[in-house]
Amino acid sequence: MKNRPLWICALLLFGVVSCKQEQPTREKAADTKEVTDNREPHRPQFHFTPPSKWMNDPNGMFYMDGEYHLSYQYYPDSTVWGPMHWGHAVSKDLVEWEHLPIALYPDSLGYIFSGGSVVDLRNTSGFGTSENPPVVAAFTHHDPVGEQAGTTDFQTQSIAYSLDKGRTWTKYAGNPVLKNEKGIRDFRDPKVIWHQDSRKWIMTLAVYDKVEFYASTDLKSWEYLSEFGIPGDTRLWECPDLFPLKVTGTGETRWVLLVSIQKEAPNGGTATSYFLGDFDGKRFLGNPEDQKWLDWGTDNYAFVTWDNAPLEATERVGIGWMSNWQYAQEVPTETWRSAMTIPRSLRLESVGEGYTLNANPIEGLKSLRSSETKMTHFKIQGEEKVSGSFSPAQCEILLRTDRAETTADLYGLTLSNSVGDRLILGFDRANNQLWVDRRGSGSPGFSASFFKGPHTAPIDLGPDGDPNLRILLDVASIEVFGENGRLNFTEIFFPSEPYDTLTFWADDGEWALESSTIYSLKSIW
Ligand code: FRU
Repeated sequence: MKNRPLWICALLLFGVVSCKQEQPTREKAADTKEVTDNREPHRPQFHFTPPSKWMNDPNGMFYMDGEYHLSYQYYPDSTVWGPMHWGHAVSKDLVEWEHLPIALYPDSLGYIFSGGSVVDLRNTSGFGTSENPPVVAAFTHHDPVGEQAGTTDFQTQSIAYSLDKGRTWTKYAGNPVLKNEKGIRDFRDPKVIWHQDSRKWIMTLAVYDKVEFYASTDLKSWEYLSEFGIPGDTRLWECPDLFPLKVTGTGETRWVLLVSIQKEAPNGGTATSYFLGDFDGKRFLGNPEDQKWLDWGTDNYAFVTWDNAPLEATERVGIGWMSNWQYAQEVPTETWRSAMTIPRSLRLESVGEGYTLNANPIEGLKSLRSSETKMTHFKIQGEEKVSGSFSPAQCEILLRTDRAETTADLYGLTLSNSVGDRLILGFDRANNQLWVDRRGSGSPGFSASFFKGPHTAPIDLGPDGDPNLRILLDVASIEVFGENGRLNFTEIFFPSEPYDTLTFWADDGEWALESSTIYSLKSIW
């Protein structure tokens, strides 16, 4: 947010606006509390963060008239989770963000949990006109009173609409639009798409350890269609997202079902997974035993995608919450908590008999590149410090390994600082594994689960593997993209002092590089 609006400065001067719990109909343009200095320790410089206080899942994402909207689970009164609102921001390019007033407040039906928005271009809901189509947000009302009383129906689905490009929202008078009559407490996170073939809206909903699909012609009344789950699974499923993608190069369409899983992720805690299949308007036809991880690192949860984005049918863009419920509320940031991942572009590619879902940073991120430090055809033996016109704390690294000339079985890079903190990214050729070791990455003590590791992911480091790696470093996070985006690895860390040293290293042999290109990345704030 480059130009901080005047009302924010006024807020800073005159103090704090209290959070309204009861806003039954039209939401007023209310304010986000206390905007902090975006240069404070651990504040990411090119990732989205809330102005202050607690944030979790991305919500209600849609594109309209040149703006990408991003809402998010937000508690404006504390840096830990509490009564949920939808915070709100917009971007023209998914790179620079402008914070807007809170979009949705808790009300008498409960807190505003996660969900998705759609641009109702045909005005099927009747909330707008075809000249001025409404944006309709579907979300879960979570009633804390019912929860405490031990009822099973305290999560219901509701809608709200905006006729002014997301600036103000009106909750539908007939809420909730979908009651919880199944006796299953976890019944939430509606994500809606328009299904062209059946000319219906399809809602995907997380219902404890599976998803359910519902259909509607007007976004107000919903009919149950089917469910999809893994037989015998007892993990909690959250934040699903169903959408079609054309396979790059072949023209076939496959359906992607994203689902976030609350435990037993590959490196512990919570992570986003996906299934590939087909959707016939009623059922998701995919192999429940073939669940894949969208990201192998610990910190990409609740990843969901934008509705109505101006993209080819081969691409869909989304964003994840860059944290993990294991420690999200304990990480050592003082005035705000959590960042989003870099927005990612998803594409499907056919490989042999199957398909892979590849995620890469959105193209627009390249606009942040400033000075370039490039080295070609060199070998690393032991340790070598790499310097140039970049800060290791805020840069992008492109590496192209010469597989034939590399003799080291273990090689990688380390970020360090003068107080001895270290973050290590390693590539283990003997085991075809990538690993990130953050055990010594900063002052311990805030959470035992955070400092477990090292964390690993399978990657083909053999002669046929893709030699290219792309690494984003932003003060307190690392995102690694390998194998053309098939492998994503996202982790956060909290050094006591900023990382100022980058070292390339190779154990027992040489790491041969065709090239290393390091870009300094500009701050978006
Ligand atoms: C996922 C989640 C959602 C829920 C929201 C509450 O992180 O647990 O299932 O709607 O967070 O903030």
